[in-house]
Amino acid sequence: MDKLLITGKKDLKGFIDVHGSKNSSLPILVSSLLNTNTLTLSNIPDVDDTNNMIKLLKGYGAKINSNKNNLNINCENIKNISTDYDIVRKMRASVLILGPLLSRFGFCKISLPGGCAIGTRPIDIHLSGLSKLGVNFFVDRGFVVGEVSKSLLGNKIKLPFPSVGATENILMAAVLARGETIIQNAAKEPEILDLGNCLVSMGAKIEGLGTNKINIQGVNSLQKASHTVIPDRIVAGTFVILSAMLNSEIEVKKINSEHLTSLINVLKKMGVNLKISKNSIKIIPVKKLKSTKVITAPYPGFPTDLQAQLMALMSLVNGTSKIKETIFENRFMHVPELNRLGANIKLNKDIAIIQGNQKFNGAQVMASDLRASVSLVLAALCAKGKTTINRVYHLDRGYEKIEKYLEKIGAQIKRQKS
Ligand code: EPZ
Repeated sequence: MDKLLITGKKDLKGFIDVHGSKNSSLPILVSSLLNTNTLTLSNIPDVDDTNNMIKLLKGYGAKINSNKNNLNINCENIKNISTDYDIVRKMRASVLILGPLLSRFGFCKISLPGGCAIGTRPIDIHLSGLSKLGVNFFVDRGFVVGEVSKSLLGNKIKLPFPSVGATENILMAAVLARGETIIQNAAKEPEILDLGNCLVSMGAKIEGLGTNKINIQGVNSLQKASHTVIPDRIVAGTFVILSAMLNSEIEVKKINSEHLTSLINVLKKMGVNLKISKNSIKIIPVKKLKSTKVITAPYPGFPTDLQAQLMALMSLVNGTSKIKETIFENRFMHVPELNRLGANIKLNKDIAIIQGNQKFNGAQVMASDLRASVSLVLAALCAKGKTTINRVYHLDRGYEKIEKYLEKIGAQIKRQKS
């Protein structure tokens, strides 16, 4: 397993071009299953999750030609096979193939994403929504099997929680369903809007994208289309937080700053001076930053995917900060590792209390999940001495060759292949 070796406290400056959104690319790649014509995509990030999704689709018989961040995908001749545990375990987003395959074939078999029964979590909202469109689900030895007697039928679906994945799954299934589907309490993340815009470019009839009520009129088939994926707002936010931690003029470019409003508001409350344009954000160094309190929430609230990164910044500012995590019940795995680097963070159920004015010192640390891992990279870049981050495969799922991006702005960082 690869490691990252980082020597901190280097003088970092310059600019970073942010790549396309992983969380937009994944559902958009899957949406090609609905189409028998070619979908041309640009700005797809070269990260493990998207590359694994491309492999999964090729396994279904999709014809895919790709070069770096652009690809053509044609799913005219696909065969319907079941998706095994190993793939779903590694990449939850593979659950998104349910909607398109059920819509196309009226049948789908996919492994449950790891040890959770349907009834309680974590795809219950997906399945109950799809059932409203006429799918019968049952569990068969760790697989969930979906069958449609005739064809999917539009319906009114109210989500108990604005689940991003469930909104995407139901939205894709509704596109070819007969009649009208209304999704209420839908997720409003920019990635949903991006998926919806891509579907509309293929000929889908969708209204209300980006709001909590989406209306879909089913169509019989979809056409050839091209689509450019939005910038990755979480990668962008990660690098904006890094520049605030370093108090240096790093410009984060090729972004959509409107997708980062909640982060911008938090950073302004902390005293960060930001120069903001539509497609870039730059930090103007200031004397001292101060603590604040944040609660993660569905979009447009503060994104859970930036919680770990913000925690690293909060460790450096004046005063005690708090973060309440409301989206995932166990998303503080980075805390013990940040504390090993010198942070002083205590947990009280879903609340993290972060002491400020700490100094990071290099150490051996362990990456645990995608965003937890990158918070360790941020801390290591601000730490005195050397840090080794183990299990960087977590990072590679959502950040394109992060060491290349960071070397470009002067970081001393090396990947040790093993
Ligand atoms: C998407 O995950 C993102 N992943 C996550 O990003 C992100 O953290 C999350 O949305 C929230 O914004 C992709 O887009 C590929 P949810 P998703 O369904 O769709 C519970 C990253 O780092 N839930 O909105 O899985 C669930 O357990 C990743 O890029 C159910 O209980 O998120 C969680 O507690 C991490 N039943 C909460 O809802 C369901 O049927 C939010 O889940 C579905 C979800």
